[in-house]
Amino acid sequence: MNGTRGRGQGRAGGRGVPALLASALLCTALSAAAGSDDAGKARYQFILNCAGCHQADGSGARSGGVPTLRGQMGHFLKTPEGRAFLVQVPGTSNSALSNADIARMLNWMAAAFSAATLPPDFQPYTEAEVSALRANKLTDVSGARRAIVARLVAEGIRIE
Ligand code: HEC
Repeated sequence: MNGTRGRGQGRAGGRGVPALLASALLCTALSAAAGSDDAGKARYQFILNCAGCHQADGSGARSGGVPTLRGQMGHFLKTPEGRAFLVQVPGTSNSALSNADIARMLNWMAAAFSAATLPPDFQPYTEAEVSALRANKLTDVSGARRAIVARLVAEGIRIE
């Protein structure tokens, strides 16, 4: 009797360990894939929510007053005000996207459209940072942009 119960417990234990191992392996596989999944999701959300104005390649529409994000988004990330502006600009902050979605999307956009201008010490946006910045609405969007552009120009950085 005891022996039978013992074997039963042994088998249960034996099944448990491979199951745990299998789920650990699955987790590892999922997190290894997370990098590309993140980029795919960010790109998809950008196309759906932003590309109508900004174009799929981020080049914008000069005639419609939509600035290009290509080759200059990274410059904004060189000042705290510019970094905040990319979140607080109405197209970003008034979108239906969650703070986590916006953080993921801005990090993807910065790399996809403006990798060469990213500051070397660039720290990716986090959900908490986006949440705090988004709670703070810009009252004068074009004034805020002008001030950031003037500061960058004074540092020798040209922004369209
Ligand atoms: C209806 C058109 C429109 C949509 C949709 C839109 N934007 Fe914009 N975006 C603009 C315009 C116009 C500007 C210039 C600043 C301003 O006037 O708001 C801008 C500026 C920006 C900027 C700052 C770049 C700069 O040089 O000033 C970022 C970053 C940005 N948008 C991100 C986004 C993201 C992310 C989305 C989607 C979630 C989005 N926008 C959706 C029109 C749009």
